[in-house]
Amino acid sequence: MLYIGVDLGTSAVKLLLMDGGGKILNIVSREYPLSFPHPGWSEQDPAHWLRETVAGIRALTDGFDASQVAGIGCGGQMHGLVALDEHDNVLRPAILWNDGRTAEEVEYLNAVVGKDKLSAWTANIAFAGFTAPKLLWMKKHEPELFARIAKIMLPKDYVNYMLTGVHCTDVSDASGMLLFDVEHKRWSREMLDICGLREDQMARVYESYEPVGTLKPDMARELGLPETVKVCAGAGDNAAAAVGTGTVGPGACNISLGTSGTIFITSDRFGVDKHNALHSFAHADGSYHLMGCMLSAASCNKWWMDDIVGAGDYAGEQKPITAEKLGRNHVYFLPYLMGERSPINDTDARGCFLGLTMDTARADMTQAVLEGVAFGIRDCLEVARSLGVDVKRSRICGGGAKSPLWRQIIANVCGLTLERIESEEGPGYGGAILAAVACGEYGSVAEAAGKLVKVTGTVEPDPAVAARYEEQYKRFKQIYPTLKALFPTLNG
Ligand code: XUL
Repeated sequence: MLYIGVDLGTSAVKLLLMDGGGKILNIVSREYPLSFPHPGWSEQDPAHWLRETVAGIRALTDGFDASQVAGIGCGGQMHGLVALDEHDNVLRPAILWNDGRTAEEVEYLNAVVGKDKLSAWTANIAFAGFTAPKLLWMKKHEPELFARIAKIMLPKDYVNYMLTGVHCTDVSDASGMLLFDVEHKRWSREMLDICGLREDQMARVYESYEPVGTLKPDMARELGLPETVKVCAGAGDNAAAAVGTGTVGPGACNISLGTSGTIFITSDRFGVDKHNALHSFAHADGSYHLMGCMLSAASCNKWWMDDIVGAGDYAGEQKPITAEKLGRNHVYFLPYLMGERSPINDTDARGCFLGLTMDTARADMTQAVLEGVAFGIRDCLEVARSLGVDVKRSRICGGGAKSPLWRQIIANVCGLTLERIESEEGPGYGGAILAAVACGEYGSVAEAAGKLVKVTGTVEPDPAVAARYEEQYKRFKQIYPTLKALFPTLNG
């Protein structure tokens, strides 16, 4: 049988067709726009997700025997607020995971309601990108629209709803709403009350690998697929990427270098970082994980390459950055182009270059961008290490992971052995694996990931380079605390 994996990302939807043995038969990607209506805001039209996913599935299966497609599984950008009215029409553009408009609501939740209570109810504290602060924002700034909300969905759940007619979500994505009791995997009554919500406005929660339904007849016709195709609940993109890289079972780690940068550490037991700098979420394999999330990772390099340097050839731009330059750059870059989530939780933080001199070359700045993101990942890793989590190896995926130089920098900055995977399509491959489990092709996510995910190579840290980066990291760590007070004054 065949399975479709959907990675509903921030800049594009990436789809793949996988056979029952895990072989990828086809890959399709379709972009959609992202809008920044105010500095620090980030929105998208859910209609674009659906339109491009439908067109993408048709293109993906073109030339293949569509009657063999058994399941669809989606890994989606997390936290986005999709508000539906009583007729299931979208009430306003979705407010995305990297939107920073809710500083006031976050302050109210963390300081007035209190971090201890939030953490006890949901295993997490408030971050600007999470869904609950966005609902409070909507309640205050768009009260008429808020009053018309009949259902609250996350991005991939909206697509799954349009495919199946079922209002569903999964445990990993629900974890990022700050409305979900992660430990007991149920909606938090306390948080629903605080946000002025009823439980019937929430979707039904499934494990990620459970089927939620089959294609609606009109959808099946539009997609050219059988009505029997099962749609599984799917997962937040990071949990899906973890499945797609085989990051399942306790103590495994995955680094994803996409628009966001995440470090994802699995655990078979529920646990909370006592400072809540890392998120404590449910995993798509039935267990739990800790996660640090940088709001801008590969997007820093994309911004630098596309918008500033204007060079399409990323690899060419990285060529002058030779091995002896690693750990010796005098330029530093703070990667906070959208503010930052983990571990500093500061919507006012901004990006900057530091240490420029007359002999600074473009390549030094390119290197600083790659290194700044690596130092940001290291910041999150340090929180995990301070909790006694001993991470020595990690899988790596996402667009940024395609750069050999960036992989080397991260291995050395973080002191990690990095494992590359045959399929670098993290969330899409994970989505297809979840669909295969939902259809009974495999007995569990662990079994499927164990059989299908293959490591193709490793990157080891070099002790001499790692030692140089250790000194540089000490300097990097001083930049944000030194500038912190200045950032809010820059925003007008
Ligand atoms: C995770 C997060 C991002 C998005 C990116 O908490 O906000 O990684 O899921 O799509």
